[in-house]
Amino acid sequence: MTDRTATLSFSDGSPSVSFPVLSGTIGPDVIDIRSLYGKTGKFTYDPGFMSTAACRSAITYIDGDKGELLYRGYAIEDLARHCDFLDVCHLLLYGELPDAAQRADFDQRVTRHTMVNEQMQFFLRGFRRDAHPMAVMTGLVGAMSAFYPDSINLHDAHQRDISAIRLIAKMPTLVAMAYKYSVGQPYMYPRNELAYAANFMRMMFATPCEDYKVNDVLVRAMDRIFILHADHEQNASTSTVRLCASSGTNPFAAIAAGVACLWGPAHGGANEACLNMLYDIQAQGGVARIGEFIEKVKDKNSTVRLMGFGHRVYKNYDPRAKLMRETCHEVLSELGLHDDPLFKLAMALEKIALEDDYFVSRKLYPNVDYYSGIVQKAIGIPVPLFTAIFALARTVGWIAQLNEMIADPEYKIGRPRQLFVGATPRTVKPIAQR
Ligand code: SDX
Repeated sequence: MTDRTATLSFSDGSPSVSFPVLSGTIGPDVIDIRSLYGKTGKFTYDPGFMSTAACRSAITYIDGDKGELLYRGYAIEDLARHCDFLDVCHLLLYGELPDAAQRADFDQRVTRHTMVNEQMQFFLRGFRRDAHPMAVMTGLVGAMSAFYPDSINLHDAHQRDISAIRLIAKMPTLVAMAYKYSVGQPYMYPRNELAYAANFMRMMFATPCEDYKVNDVLVRAMDRIFILHADHEQNASTSTVRLCASSGTNPFAAIAAGVACLWGPAHGGANEACLNMLYDIQAQGGVARIGEFIEKVKDKNSTVRLMGFGHRVYKNYDPRAKLMRETCHEVLSELGLHDDPLFKLAMALEKIALEDDYFVSRKLYPNVDYYSGIVQKAIGIPVPLFTAIFALARTVGWIAQLNEMIADPEYKIGRPRQLFVGATPRTVKPIAQR
């Protein structure tokens, strides 16, 4: 807390009012305006929450100007290079990287929950084979609420912890099932001897007809994709999970709401949209047509955006994009695809955009989605599944943020107000007089 205050004065002579200014450990101070309506009868107005801190949090910190991203104080570069995804899950959930004993226990707990109830497969049969994987995932994650009555009480920390492990453990199985269903192949069961990312790759690409050989470079790349997407402060889908959980609903329903929100092309759906954008440019002539495409993006009358570029918070390079580009090089080299025309096109497009004043003046840089699609395509992930993999990775962040909110003594059900611009009171007239 602090004794610093911010004072609001009114030009209409209404009395000034003061509010406390609160400081965190790092990052911008906040003005605590919780008493504003009580003191003034006025609301703040901030559609899109451009200047609003919706909560206090100790999980993820982003400095958009420096291009800095910290999970519980650790730089994303440090975590991506020295940890794996389950280390990061433990860190996000419990606040610390695990020691050897804690890691062995966490591994064991996650491994024991990777199978899903056999009934879950019958939900998939209700979908068309060409259903978008995010439609399937929204349904399957929400359906989990019906299978685990022993871990749906949001206000019971033990039940929240069990549902967290179940969700982290089962998301790879469900995403792989959504994929297998779309290609008409049999589901592959998880294997307890495989590590998390390797288990996912096997469930995705193995068939019952032969043993699956794990490629360590591709597994490491998949694990890094999970780490880079694990959490990201109060983004749209995380805010959706918090708002949804604030009603006291169960963890599976709240995470299903996050999956639904992440689907949007302005958010998690951008990696799919970015790859489709690169395909379109390639189909029209590739690098030679980049100039024409950039002009379309800059044309105010067109709705064309450079997908994978820009960010509400990063006004410098998204540190995840740099790491994703590094992973891109590793995977394409491993697969002998360093001449991949799509990757070359993406690099050329990035170079041209970063030299163009339209992007520079608006501080538009590549974000995590710009290269993640190219890596996933090289690994063999179909484009429509990209966002489902984003949801798989972000599940741990959503859960950590949900748990933090429920444990916060200040939390209440979220219920924003509005600036009403509709009809003033009027009476119903008989139809003949309307
Ligand atoms: C993710 O919040 C998170 O943390 C999200 C995320 C996470 O990990 O959870 O990081 C994941 O969602 C990354 C973002 C993925 N989305 C995309 O790549 C889609 C393309 N990008 C944009 O649509 C946009 O940049 C947003 C949505 C990401 C951010 O939009 P803002 O902050 O609301 O900014 P804006 O739309 O008001 O744009 C400001 C200006 C506008 O131009 P002017 O009206 O000032 O002339 O920049 C322009 C926009 O037209 N602009 C773009 C652009 N992004 C913004 N112009 C062309 N191409 C773009 N990509």
